[in-house]
Amino acid sequence: MSRIVITGGAGRLGRSLVAGLAERGHEIVSLDRSTTSALEIDGVRQHAIDLTDASTTAVTLAAARADAVIHLAAIAVPFSAPEDVIMRTNSALAISVLGGAVAAGIPKIVAASSPTVLGYGAPNGWTPERLPLDEDSPAQPWNAYALSKLLIEQTLTMLQRQTGDAVRFAAFRPCYVIAPEEWAGAPTQQGHTVRARLDDPALSAPALFNYVDARDVATFADTLLAALGDIPNGETFFVGADDALARDPLSELLPRFHPGTARAATELTGTSPAFSNAKARRLLGWTPDHDWRTELAHADKRKDVPV
Ligand SMILES: NC(=O)c1ccc[n+]([C@@H]2O[C@H](COP(=O)([O-])OP(=O)(O)OC[C@H]3O[C@@H](n4cnc5c(N)ncnc54)[C@H](O)[C@@H]3O)[C@@H](O)[C@H]2O)c1
Repeated sequence: MSRIVITGGAGRLGRSLVAGLAERGHEIVSLDRSTTSALEIDGVRQHAIDLTDASTTAVTLAAARADAVIHLAAIAVPFSAPEDVIMRTNSALAISVLGGAVAAGIPKIVAASSPTVLGYGAPNGWTPERLPLDEDSPAQPWNAYALSKLLIEQTLTMLQRQTGDAVRFAAFRPCYVIAPEEWAGAPTQQGHTVRARLDDPALSAPALFNYVDARDVATFADTLLAALGDIPNGETFFVGADDALARDPLSELLPRFHPGTARAATELTGTSPAFSNAKARRLLGWTPDHDWRTELAHADKRKDVPV
């Protein structure tokens, strides 16, 4: 059992991560601008705080006496605020939280990045050398959100240069997060339901049809924290489902929406996703437990149950 600080714990991904890690016996301190009744559960404490305030954040992190920090707090959607605000907010949060965690002597520091660092959807085109994409694919951010996520990864690298292996760092790039209630029809991050994203491929195309169940991100984080002392320091991981959020193979869908992918996409037959989760499988032994076909079938079955 560890004490884990999770920033952005009241958010879409944060709520599942907090609940999932508390369920696994960890003591969780959620730091977020707001608290939520969804996290009034055993083993969870919530503090309302503006994490861009570096001095208050440093004091709060020091007082937490935590074994690990998972940094999620961010403006989490590209173009959901002016570019300068996204850049300023996410980079301020990175240095405030990650720098504050090092200063507080917290030995394990993990931060959420994003697949968008790879630059797909760039208005002037994007041509991957190969698919599926993996951690060796080049970062080519084309908007402030993606750039701020790359900056978060680079902040971890910078801090690692200061601390060496005395502190263990990792970044992870979660695919499009589906919270458990979204399988039953609650709106996803972009406001559409999962079924709408499947029925109209144009909705999932901007994210290259990637997705991950938020509960799988919780098992990933648990596995990662347990392994952090035994894997190379400062690794980055994609965290995605084993399949694509699409009814047709990506070898057909990707070239339709992202013309520059036509050559590389021939590899993506069957249900293959555009992002590989092989590194997490290889280094951590992590695999996702949820997939959209099973989850939607369960949701349908629950609707059939007479009440
Ligand atoms: N949801 C996804 O599909 C997805 C995909 C890839 C990466 N991510 C990353 O995962 C993380 C969590 O995403 P999410 O979907 O849960 O986002 P979210 O917007 O639901 O949650 C973000 C949380 O951060 C908090 N926050 C923002 N600014 C803050 C501040 N100044 N002080 C304190 N708290 C602050 C917000 O109150 C919110 O609860 C983000 O870093 C995001 O970039 C999410």
